[in-house]
Amino acid sequence: VMTGACGESRPPLSPPALAAGKGLDADPARGRRLIAERGCVACHTVTGVRGPASNVGPPLHELWRQAYLAGVLPNTSDDLVRWLLDPPAINPRTAMPATGLQKADAEDIAAFLLSPDGARGRAP
Ligand code: HEC
Repeated sequence: VMTGACGESRPPLSPPALAAGKGLDADPARGRRLIAERGCVACHTVTGVRGPASNVGPPLHELWRQAYLAGVLPNTSDDLVRWLLDPPAINPRTAMPATGLQKADAEDIAAFLLSPDGARGRAP
């Protein structure tokens, strides 16, 4: 499953490297809007994004603290984008469906979710 990593072995998590979604040329404020507009809040509670307080999936409050995404991917910006674009391609048994995001959408959402400020509902 973990193919395509270009032979590069990364540590599972390096929080400073993740701070503010570094490495992504993305717009976290747009990502926050997309989380509301694209129906993520139907399944996830996300601090700073208005929604119905659903717990179908895990809350996305402090995703940047986690070592793994959905228990199967190292928590990096790139892997979060991969997850958001097509969860069943990463884990065929997952309950999270593909939500039809474009790559730029997924990058903006990832920048928001991996930003400690964004995930606490402050800026951006
Ligand atoms: C139909 C319900 C549903 C929708 C809609 C949905 N998700 Fe999920 N999501 C889930 C479930 C269930 C999981 C847990 C999946 C797993 O662990 O295999 C999950 C997992 C995740 C994870 C990994 C969480 C973690 O703690 O590792 C992220 C990030 C995520 N979703 C973001 C999003 C975003 C962003 C959107 C909107 C574009 C979205 N989801 C839409 C149900 C949903």
